[in-house]
Amino acid sequence: MRLSRRGPSLLVQTPAKLNLFLNVLGRRQDGFHDLETLMVSIRLYDTIQFESSPSEIELLCRSAPDSPQAIPSGEENLIVRAARLLQAETGCKAGSRITLWKRIPSQAGLGGGSSDAAATLVALDRLWRTNLPLERLHALAARLGSDVNFFLDSSLASVCTGRGERTEPVALRRPLHFVVIKPASGLSTGDVFQEWGRESAAAPPVTLTECAASLGEPGSPGGLRRWLYNALEGPAGRLNGEIEGILKTLSRWDVVWGGMTGSGSACFGLCRSAAEARSVAGRLKSLNLGRVFVVRSGV
Ligand code: C5P
Repeated sequence: MRLSRRGPSLLVQTPAKLNLFLNVLGRRQDGFHDLETLMVSIRLYDTIQFESSPSEIELLCRSAPDSPQAIPSGEENLIVRAARLLQAETGCKAGSRITLWKRIPSQAGLGGGSSDAAATLVALDRLWRTNLPLERLHALAARLGSDVNFFLDSSLASVCTGRGERTEPVALRRPLHFVVIKPASGLSTGDVFQEWGRESAAAPPVTLTECAASLGEPGSPGGLRRWLYNALEGPAGRLNGEIEGILKTLSRWDVVWGGMTGSGSACFGLCRSAAEARSVAGRLKSLNLGRVFVVRSGV
């Protein structure tokens, strides 16, 4: 994430993510699933402004003109929950007037809500001068959601384990170019994990270690093709018919890889260059399969 001061307020640009590898290891006693995943931060940003206010937490949501979507501004928004959690944990009595410009599509597997929550913890900890050590911020992040810790690290790429909250940055030695497409219908993460449990899962054809090692090598992204995998693609596809159409389209084109991110419903094509990503995006737009973004890796 990128933080900048604007007079007395703080402005944060907070990114989305793509899962290049995601394997589900099993369901746990607490209902969550143990997984191993490799996430890459991408330059598709929500913008959030934090202003000081006496004690209230007030959230105003504006969807960006190129990404219209309805965003809840009450207690169900992870920004509000992150702010209240920080207040409760630190005893801080200050408030904040928060404005969110939403670009990252929701219910997409792009981590937008989690990214907003991580940005809120970092920005309000600074604005309110609560100065929590990073480990305590991580503990709060894990309580808010499984992907929040990844965004708190602000790392370009990480291997994430446990329910996703244990993160370890890994090297990414080349910029990666993607086209991301979000179909009109979204998916709930909980529903997709439940659907995963309905059919016995096959072992992945590749390992996370191989995927991470390949990411660390310099050179053309073509070699990455063999190592990308998402165990939730099948279950998500059974719940959302639009995903299959997008993946079939991508597989017919000469992208390095076409896959789904997280629990969907957004899909992505890994491309060899920014020019190729723009060209694929143009063809996808003409098919009206959903909202299309051209992005590269970056925090
Ligand atoms: O942690 P997060 O809020 O993103 O999770 C949303 C839902 O997705 C959880 O309530 C749970 O049903 C499911 N989930 C899971 N295992 C994970 C992450 C999420 O079962 N590792």
